[in-house]
Amino acid sequence: MIDSHHKNIAVAYCDAFDSDRCKLIAKKWHLNYLGDAAAATKQTQLDFLLQLNNQILELLKLDEPKLGGINVDFVEGAVAHRRKFGGGRGQDIAKAIGLKHGFTPHVLDATAGLGRDAFVLASLGCQVTLMERMPAVAALLDDGLARAKLNSEVGDIANRMKLVHASSIENMNLAQEVDVVYLDPMYPHREKSAAVKKEMRVFQSLVGEDLDADDLLAPALALAKYRVVVKRPSYAPPLSCASLPNKKPSTSITMKKNRFDVYVNQAIPKA
Ligand SMILES: C[S@@+](CC[C@H](N)C(=O)[O-])C[C@H]1O[C@@H](n2cnc3c(N)ncnc32)[C@H](O)[C@@H]1O
Repeated sequence: MIDSHHKNIAVAYCDAFDSDRCKLIAKKWHLNYLGDAAAATKQTQLDFLLQLNNQILELLKLDEPKLGGINVDFVEGAVAHRRKFGGGRGQDIAKAIGLKHGFTPHVLDATAGLGRDAFVLASLGCQVTLMERMPAVAALLDDGLARAKLNSEVGDIANRMKLVHASSIENMNLAQEVDVVYLDPMYPHREKSAAVKKEMRVFQSLVGEDLDADDLLAPALALAKYRVVVKRPSYAPPLSCASLPNKKPSTSITMKKNRFDVYVNQAIPKA
């Protein structure tokens, strides 16, 4: 987590017509309200801006404006492309959560981020509860979900996704009747920053590293009826759990850059 939770963020509008909506967004997520986004250049203490631009909430890193804004878009772009051409139930993430005929689990994505993995799972039919602790990230997700719900192609998928703004280490059991807990905490990055895509650089510099990620495993194992799935970069060790020091993944699914560590609590019932 480093000091990312102390980054200075404010909410702003690009068009004065949106000022009331921006005030509501700032209030909802307990963020400062700036007013006109053009004023941000004078606010040297600000690190990030959440700006409403053409009805889309986007996050800007103010000291690197060339990186552009990031937003959550389930309707177009990479996520939509993956939904159409990404391999459906044959994808590794589907295998990892144990999706099969007759078993479409309720998944708690306890490290929701920009909701990409959660959207893949929801597009495969799963009910997904998304937990995210950072207010600015939760605000982006909330905005992306609201727009997706209004869209005829992805509205049904978005309606299977429910956002909870909370830290899942302490509050995981706010989600009930969870079949699978999915975890993808931020891990220190090896790539030189130029190699990391621009939008990921904005996101990573906001979120920092989830240095308390190991603490997610015990509550996840306690909550999941069937299994816990942890996404890790291939060079990262499995999560380690202080209360269960010998806990090892039951199996792993290895991909090019990442792997899924799967901890089985109970076998998935036969269809
Ligand atoms: C690597 S990102 C997840 C990306 C996500 N899987 C996706 O597909 O967009 C990790 C996210 O988990 C959040 N996070 C980490 N620890 C958390 C916790 N204990 N409770 C809630 N959110 C957490 C971070 O704030 C960050 O947004």
